[in-house]
Parts: sequence; structure tokens; C-alpha cells
Amino acid sequence: MFSRVLRSFLSPEDLTLAETNELLDIALELKRNPLRYDLAGKTLASVYFNPSLRTRTSFDVAMYQLGGATTTLNVGDNTWNLEYRDDVVMDGACAEHIREAARVISRYAQAIAVRAFPKYTEKWEDNRQEPIHKGFVRESSVPIINLESSLHHPCQGLADILTIREKIGKPAKEPIVISWGWHVNPLPMAVTNSVLLEVAKAGMEVRLAHPEGWELDQDIMASARSLATSAGGSVKVYNELDAALPGARAIYFKSWGSIINSGAPDVERGAALAHQRHWQLTLDHMKRMDRGLFMHCLPVRRGVEVMADVLDSPYSAVIDQAENRLHVQKALLLAMLLPPRPDPSSPNYNI
Ligand code: CP
Repeated sequence: MFSRVLRSFLSPEDLTLAETNELLDIALELKRNPLRYDLAGKTLASVYFNPSLRTRTSFDVAMYQLGGATTTLNVGDNTWNLEYRDDVVMDGACAEHIREAARVISRYAQAIAVRAFPKYTEKWEDNRQEPIHKGFVRESSVPIINLESSLHHPCQGLADILTIREKIGKPAKEPIVISWGWHVNPLPMAVTNSVLLEVAKAGMEVRLAHPEGWELDQDIMASARSLATSAGGSVKVYNELDAALPGARAIYFKSWGSIINSGAPDVERGAALAHQRHWQLTLDHMKRMDRGLFMHCLPVRRGVEVMADVLDSPYSAVIDQAENRLHVQKALLLAMLLPPRPDPSSPNYNI
């Protein structure tokens, strides 16, 4: 059982390194013994503003294997379009405000999980505010789990640090490359941010590779550097993928949208991308690493970000990463929905 009740899980920074390791130990125990009934009678309400395969399925199965249940609300599909802005007259597409929705769901479910990430059609300064997640945190009376927002995908980060621990070891002191990849669409940077924060927290030597113009959010970079320094690791930025590869033990490849082009017309974003097509991961890149492990959160477009022979190679950990979503999320759900372990030093221990 986890040592404290986790009230919400929005970012990797909601857990210390010691707490992350504690949660991963519980996840590994659940991987060995999957079925428990501690959450019998409890329900997770999952609210999706965007599609999902892994997140949705792994949370549904996680609750089922713990004896509980999930109810899923697809915004604008099997439930109302939800408004999140304050002080608007709701005479458009949205039939309900999250102010009522979050309060009502809190009366039915013991936790609420929310996925809402942007399409880079607005300015980054607006997107990075994460108004939908903040609205659910403000209005709900039950814990909130972030299933992916503008800035964070913390459940993916947890699964990935567990995969690194299993495949490379703990503590993993060998260098890891986190690299941008070419893509036809501007994708969220939430996965990159959460993986970066987790590996920095673990004290790894992190090499962040991306073309100029695809810099991460400054606050995320500052947090990553601070976490790395505290744990004896480092974060260095490379603007050429080839320069980051020598001696690296793993590469996490992931496309994300450019902050400086967020809100720009499609034609401008397309022109910027056209020059970066060489940022595609090939088998030749993998062969240049030292026993390289290939990681990606999925979904991935074969032949776009990553060549098919990399995905099908023995280097690839992508299916194991996806499986680990299930195990870490079960540990997380227990940490949020079960009472904490009694502290024998507490004066109330025997009461
Ligand atoms: N990695 C991940 O979150 O996958 P889905 O978008 O399919 O949930």
C-alpha cells in the first residue's frame, strides 16, 4: 500500500523520487499478481476530449482487475460538449459547463480522469494554461488524474520510467536521448515533457535533441534541470540527432508541435516542417548506439516518425511500454483510492 493518499496526479512533479520508486515497486508486484479486489464498489469516471487506445483500455482493465469499474464520457459524442470558460453565454456548441459536470460526476465516481490536449491552433500561452484540467481540479470533490494535457502525460511517464528500470536497471546512469521526430501533424508535447521530467528525476544523463524552433516550454526545461541536478544527473540540448547518439543506451523518439508556430496558419507550419524531414529514426541510427533501446509512447505512424524496421526490431520496447501503462496505473489507483498505510510511530496507531 502507498505511504500517503494521493489527492491528484497531474504532473510527474506530484511525486518525489522516493514516492515514484515506491509506486513502481507496487506496480511490479501488481505485474506479478494482477488481480485484487481492493476497489470493489468504486468507480473511475474517464472524461475524453480526444481519442485514445492505450489510455482508455489500460484504465478500464486496471479498474476491472482491482474489483472496480470505469464509466467513460466522450465529450461531444456520448456526452454533451463541455464549456470551460468562465463568464460566457453558452449559446454555441456546448450544452453543459464543467462547473456543473465536475460536481455531478463527483457525486457518482470516486475519481475523475481527464484527457484534453490542444491542436496547436491557438497561441501556446493560452494552451499551456490547461484550463480544462484546472477547471476539473477546482470544481471536483474527488481526485483528478491527468490522462494527457497540454503539458503533461504523467501516466505515460510512469510507465516509461518503469520500462527503463526493467530494461536498463535502477538507477539507470547511462545516457538516454529524447528526440523530436518529423511528423505530418503538430502533436502534443505532453509525453516528451513527462518523460523528460521522470528521467531527470531519476538522475539520468539526458540528451534532448530537436531542431531549432522546436524548443520545449521554458518552465519544463527549468524543472527538468532542477530535478536532474538534485539527483546527480544532467540535461543537455542537441540540435543534431547524430551528435546525441554516441554511447547512448536508449532513445525515446517523439514528435511534438513547435511552440513558436502554435497558432500560425497551416501553410506556415507546413513550410517549417518541410525542412526537417531528415529527423526520422532509422535502423542505422539504432546501430550507432551502444546496445540502444528504442522507446515510443505510441501511436506511431510507420515510415513517418520512425521506420518500420526499427519498430519491428529487437531494439524496440514499445509494446512493453504500453503494457506497463496498466501496471503503473493500477498502483496509482490504489494510491488514490485506498486509505494510507498506518504509521506505527503515530500516537493513534492502535486506535
Ligand atoms: N500513449 C498513449 O497515451 O496512447 P493513447 O493516445 O492511444 O491513449
